Amino acid sequence: MRYQGREVDIEGRVRLVMESALTARDRVGVQDFVLLENYNSEATFIENLRRRFRENLIYTYIGSVLVSVNPYKDLEIYSKTQMERYRGVSFYEISPHIYALSDNTYRAMRTERKDQCILISGESGAGKTEASKKILLYYAVTCPTNDRMAALGDHLLQSNPVLEAFGNAKTLKNDNSSRFGKYMDIQFDFRGTPVGSHIMNFLLEKTRVVYQNQGERNFHIFYQLLDGGDDDLLRRLDLDRNPQNYDYLVKGNCPRLSSVSDKNNWKTVMKALSVFGFTEEEVQILLNIIAGVLHLGNIQFGEGEDGEAYITTETRLNHLAELLGIDSSALGEALTHKKLTAKGEEMISPLNFEQAVSARDALAKSMYGRTFSWLVQKINQSLAPKDEIYHSNKGSSVIGLLDIYGFEVLQHNSFEQFCINYCNEKLQQLFIELTLRSEQEEYETEGIAWEPVQYFDNKIICDLIEEKHKGIISILDEECLRPGETCDVSFLEKLEDTLGGHPHFVTHKLANGKTRRVLSREEFRLLHYAGEVNYNVTGFLDKNNKWLNRNPKEVMCQSENPILRHCFRRKEVIDQKRPVTAATQFKTSLMKLKEILMSKEPSYVRCIKPNDAKQPDRFDEVLVRHQVKYLGLMENLRVRRAGFAYRRRFEAFLQRYKPLCPETWPNWHGRLADGVSTLVNHLGYKEEEYKLGRSKIFIRFPKTLFTTEDALEAKKPDIALTLQTSWRGYRERAKYQRIRNAVIVIQSAWRGMKARRRARRRREAAERIRRFIKGFIHRHEEYGPENDYFLDHIRYSFLKNLRNNLPESVLDKSWPTPPPLLTEACTASEHLRMLHMRNMVMKYCRRVQPEWKKQMTQKVIASEIFKDQKDSYPESVGRLFLDSRLEREQINLKVIQTLGNDKVQYGVSVIKHDRRGYKPHPRQLLLTNTYAVLVDRTKIKQKIDYSALRGISVSSLSDGMFVIHMPNEDNKQKGDLVLHCNHVIELVTKLSMMASKVNYVNVNPGSIKFAVSRGKEGIIDFVRGSELKVTKGKRGHLLVTAPRINDT
Ligand SMILES: Nc1ncnc2c1ncn2[C@@H]1O[C@H](COP(=O)(O)OP(=O)(O)O)[C@@H](O)[C@H]1O
Ligand SMILES: [Mg+2]
Repeated sequence: MRYQGREVDIEGRVRLVMESALTARDRVGVQDFVLLENYNSEATFIENLRRRFRENLIYTYIGSVLVSVNPYKDLEIYSKTQMERYRGVSFYEISPHIYALSDNTYRAMRTERKDQCILISGESGAGKTEASKKILLYYAVTCPTNDRMAALGDHLLQSNPVLEAFGNAKTLKNDNSSRFGKYMDIQFDFRGTPVGSHIMNFLLEKTRVVYQNQGERNFHIFYQLLDGGDDDLLRRLDLDRNPQNYDYLVKGNCPRLSSVSDKNNWKTVMKALSVFGFTEEEVQILLNIIAGVLHLGNIQFGEGEDGEAYITTETRLNHLAELLGIDSSALGEALTHKKLTAKGEEMISPLNFEQAVSARDALAKSMYGRTFSWLVQKINQSLAPKDEIYHSNKGSSVIGLLDIYGFEVLQHNSFEQFCINYCNEKLQQLFIELTLRSEQEEYETEGIAWEPVQYFDNKIICDLIEEKHKGIISILDEECLRPGETCDVSFLEKLEDTLGGHPHFVTHKLANGKTRRVLSREEFRLLHYAGEVNYNVTGFLDKNNKWLNRNPKEVMCQSENPILRHCFRRKEVIDQKRPVTAATQFKTSLMKLKEILMSKEPSYVRCIKPNDAKQPDRFDEVLVRHQVKYLGLMENLRVRRAGFAYRRRFEAFLQRYKPLCPETWPNWHGRLADGVSTLVNHLGYKEEEYKLGRSKIFIRFPKTLFTTEDALEAKKPDIALTLQTSWRGYRERAKYQRIRNAVIVIQSAWRGMKARRRARRRREAAERIRRFIKGFIHRHEEYGPENDYFLDHIRYSFLKNLRNNLPESVLDKSWPTPPPLLTEACTASEHLRMLHMRNMVMKYCRRVQPEWKKQMTQKVIASEIFKDQKDSYPESVGRLFLDSRLEREQINLKVIQTLGNDKVQYGVSVIKHDRRGYKPHPRQLLLTNTYAVLVDRTKIKQKIDYSALRGISVSSLSDGMFVIHMPNEDNKQKGDLVLHCNHVIELVTKLSMMASKVNYVNVNPGSIKFAVSRGKEGIIDFVRGSELKVTKGKRGHLLVTAPRINDT
């Protein structure tokens, strides 16, 4: 725990606990007085102020009131970065600052949509005007704006130097003391953009124009003009640079100021005037009036014999008249004569010396005062919201800024001080009313019981001053307006008569011995809330009487100077009614101001002046104590602390401290009040330490809050860690979720697609099956919608089946059976079969070589001759026919030579059986193109002409016997040839083909008859046996036993 709990002993009695401030931003003292343990001790209070002041911490809160101590030096706390720091940040989370207050007010205006006002009070020189400038600057810089409105921000800031030049002066208390009261409204539109502004000015201290106390100055503008104006300008205005030459500037005997550069300020003012749209001419006529006032002051009077005043400085008068654009003699008369209307008759009477001087001064004051009001009006014109939008806009709101002169106690206090202090009384009352009221209201609305705090209510003093008929102002007015001889002393007497015995009013006559000594006979004393002030009645009547002689007024309203004409209206001259007195007018404007302020939500800045010497780092305790007292800060604090030191809305309290309790961290989901109560129970708050209101928690002792705050401080690293982890977790989870969702989307889309596809397939399949079955049922009917699918399918499957089962060779006779249902399919099938066969044949034929063709031709012939005729035929089918069975060398050369041109086409060895006896002889049979020859080794034994060939006979068995039938008419013929050849089928085929006598071949089943010679016949018998045997049989027959072939 960082809780330090140091105790500082002050004056041996006071216990001051200087703990870590609420949020540990400033560790010097406490940043909110409410957190002071010993809140009843003024010493503790001042010590806290002093400690912070020493560390340049000039701001401290009392709850929502900002206490500011004038540092009299530039602190680096007003930069833009600082502004950003305070923007949108909660009041207590950051060290106290005027920006925090400004920001808070602005946000309250925006969120609560209620007009706000900031009341800045304090003694002269305490820093009020500076504070108001800081606030303006803050708004000008940080508020949202657009191009058009940016100019407004500039105008707002620029209004200060102008108003200060004309309305501020050096006093003993402040080198730049505002000598008028100022209330400024800033208007915002619904977006929070400043759209316009309006300034109200109160009671300019006009006396200063003609008289200044020792060490003080007139209004800045006179010195600025003399110092800063260029030579031409001064020449034109007939002025010279030395202020000492002007009666109105010499009274205070203080022409120069070390802290202020009149020359520079002159430039600033001229620039600012141009910003406000003052034309060159307007500036000139304004300066004419300023110069006119100076000249007027130098008008001197002499005294005539009858005591009547006359002007001794005629030339000056002429100059002045010229400058103001008025008639010189009329002016002269106006300054020395008085015009009266009695019973409808106008009378002119001369003024005496004093009266003339007073008339002159009155004119000067009046000119200056009215010109100042004109100036404010002019500035207001340029600050007014340009937009009609603003006026029609319901969401717009206002922040008011009151910078009014502070309570003033001088050596000699006059009418002005009276008014100023009266104003402060009124504001104090407002402050009491508003703070107490709001405090009380808060307890009431929250349902918390509390003891009202005793405080001094200054209503009694306000009444003393302002009450009708009985109040000081009423009496003063009465004296002013009463016909007959009136003077300040008679006014005092009247006061004594009426107010004698009032606890807050004393005069020399009424006072007891001790007081009497310090009160002169012309003085009365008021016991103000802030202290006792003695007022000298001298001049009260004059100053109150705004009744300027008619004479000068008439002159002025005829002026060629438009500003003067504007300020002095003809209507006023004609109007015979007395104008309201200064005091009454002031009272009325204060009432109005109060009304304005009461309608707004107030915030307070209480300025304190640390020393009278205007020096930095000096803290005059006596002076400060006095201010603390009269500003009512202790009472303010007491009220604030009466019940509870601290209060927070439930949500804010819970939000801040929820990490300290596991039940409320990270989020409390129940009712807020329950959350807070859970939290404080966990924190171990004791019963007497806190109370729960309806929407707020009230904490009685600062210590309780400090402890909690320190615990939070200690907890912060953990929280950071937790936040970090949960944030990371959250981020990763979110990422994972995103991916997961994407996956699911893709998955479902894909699954959906797949399922739809499957469903579609199933539907189609079902449909197909249905149609199939239906088609099957109707298969015997005409082709139509009922069965087309089925029949098409049958057809299709047949064709498909056919494609896969087509016979691959010409020899393959298989063919799929066409569906019996489809008659046309049978024809088509047959057709296809034929086509296919043809195709195969064609393909086969294309592949056949000439060699093979020849072979095949021979084989076909052989088949024609022998198929199913001869036993040995099937066996021969597989054997190829050769071109020749004899090699070339086996044929005798002589034989070949004998044959000559007839080439041997085929040769084979044969056995020749004699026609008688059947003796076998080996021979060669050679076939040429035209004949066949039988050769016995080298000799050609027989030549057989193909044309003469009568036939060829073979048996039906498996033997190789064959007979060549020769022509029988030829006697020379030796008869038919009986031959045996192992290749009988080949030989017979070739021979018959060569001889073109295929039809001449006979296949004889039992026996072959052949011609032997001259009509004699031989017979060869064929039988089946186990092996080939050629023997002589019965009756001279040749018996051939042919072996059985397997299947025969
Ligand atoms: N916040 C501040 N920082 C620095 N100087 C300041 C500050 N407030 C006031 N001053 C000084 O004090 C002087 C008087 O302040 P001012 O605001 O004119 O007093 P007031 O308006 O209360 O009479 C200023 O001219 C300035 O020098
Ligand atoms: Mg001021």
